Amino acid sequence: MTTRDVDAPLLEVKALRAELADGRTVLHDVSYAVRPGQALGLVGESGSGKSMSLKAVLATLPDGTRTTGDITFDTRSVSAMSRRELRAYRAHDVALIPQDPRASANPVRTVGDFLTEALVRARGTRRRDADTVAARLLVDVGIPDGERRLAQYPHELSGGLLQRVMIAAALAMEPRLLLADEPTTALDVTTQQEVMAILDEQRRDKHLAMVLVTHDLDLAVAVTDTVAVMYAGTIVEIAPSTELHTASRHPYTMGLLRSRPVIGRRDRLTSLPGRPISAFEAGEGCGFAARCSYAQDRCRTTRPVLQAGGTHQVACHRADELAITLPEATP
Ligand SMILES: Nc1ncnc2c1ncn2[C@@H]1O[C@H](COP(=O)(O)OP(=O)(O)OP(=O)(O)O)[C@@H](O)[C@H]1O
Ligand SMILES: [Mg+2]
Repeated sequence: MTTRDVDAPLLEVKALRAELADGRTVLHDVSYAVRPGQALGLVGESGSGKSMSLKAVLATLPDGTRTTGDITFDTRSVSAMSRRELRAYRAHDVALIPQDPRASANPVRTVGDFLTEALVRARGTRRRDADTVAARLLVDVGIPDGERRLAQYPHELSGGLLQRVMIAAALAMEPRLLLADEPTTALDVTTQQEVMAILDEQRRDKHLAMVLVTHDLDLAVAVTDTVAVMYAGTIVEIAPSTELHTASRHPYTMGLLRSRPVIGRRDRLTSLPGRPISAFEAGEGCGFAARCSYAQDRCRTTRPVLQAGGTHQVACHRADELAITLPEATP
C-alpha cells in the first residue's frame, strides 16, 4: 500500500488552457490546488470561465475542446483516464451540486427513487436498505421528515428543500471532492444562507474538498479557505479568504469589493466600468486593462502572470506600487 502525504492536494489544476472547437480560448493558464477538507472559491463575473473550469475537472468540456496543462485527482491525471476510469471517477470520487435544482431533477421521479438509485449505483446499497439510508441522508441535510419526503415529487418541494435533496444525492456517493456551481443562486436570500450552511457543515463533517463557484465574493470569503478571482478565463488573484477583504491587491478584486452593497459602508458604492470579457476577447496584454483605471502601456501589451510561490498571488504589473497607494477596499 502506498502512503499519501496528508498535505498533498487532492485536486491539482496546473496551467490549464482550453480552446473550444471553433478556436475560441475560454481558459488561459488556470492553476490551483485543493487539499482534503479544504474549500476553494472561484469568483468572477459572467463568462470569466468558472463553469468551464469545473467542466474541465469533470472532463465534460464541450466536444472538440483542446486542452493543455494538467488536472490531477489524487495524483492521477484526469486527461489520461480511460472511459471506464472516468465513469468510476464521476460515480465515486467527485460529485457536482447543480446551480438550478429544479432543472436537474427529473419531474416524474420521486425523491426516494432519485436517492435510492444513487445509493444502489454508487455505494452498492441493497435495495431493501436503500429507503432507510436515503431517509437518514435527508435528516443529515436538515430535512427531519425524510421518510415522508421520499414519496414526494420535485414539484411538491420548495427550491431550498430540493437543493438539499441534491446535496443529499451528491453525498450519497461518498465523494472526496464536491464541485458546486452557483449552488444557491436559484434560491431566495434566506434559503441561500440555510442551504449554504448545510453544505458547509457536511463538507467539514466529512472532510471533503470543495470547489465553490459563485458571483458572490462575500459568500466565497465566508465559506472557503482560499479564493481565486477569475477574469477573462484566467485567475488574476488567489489568496487566503481571510486576506481578501483587507489586503486584496488586484484592481479587479478591489473593484468587485467596492461594487457590492454593504450596510453601513462609508465610502461610495461604485460600479465597475465597462463589461466583463471572455478569454478569447482579451488581447496580448492584461485582460482587465480596458476597464482598469490604473492601466499603463505595458498593461495593454504584456500579459501579467501570477507570481510563483506564496499563498497570496496576483497577476498585475502594478500590484506592488498600487498596494502602497490605494486605500483599503473595505468599508
Ligand atoms: N457549451 C459551450 N459552448 C461554447 N461556448 C461556451 C459553452 N459554455 C460556455 N461557453 C463560453 O465559454 C466562456 C466561459 O464561460 P463559462 O460558462 O465558464 O463562464 P462562467 O464564469 O461560468 O459565467 P456565468 O457566471 O455566467 O455562469 C464564455 O465565453 C461562454 O460563452
Ligand atoms: Mg457558470
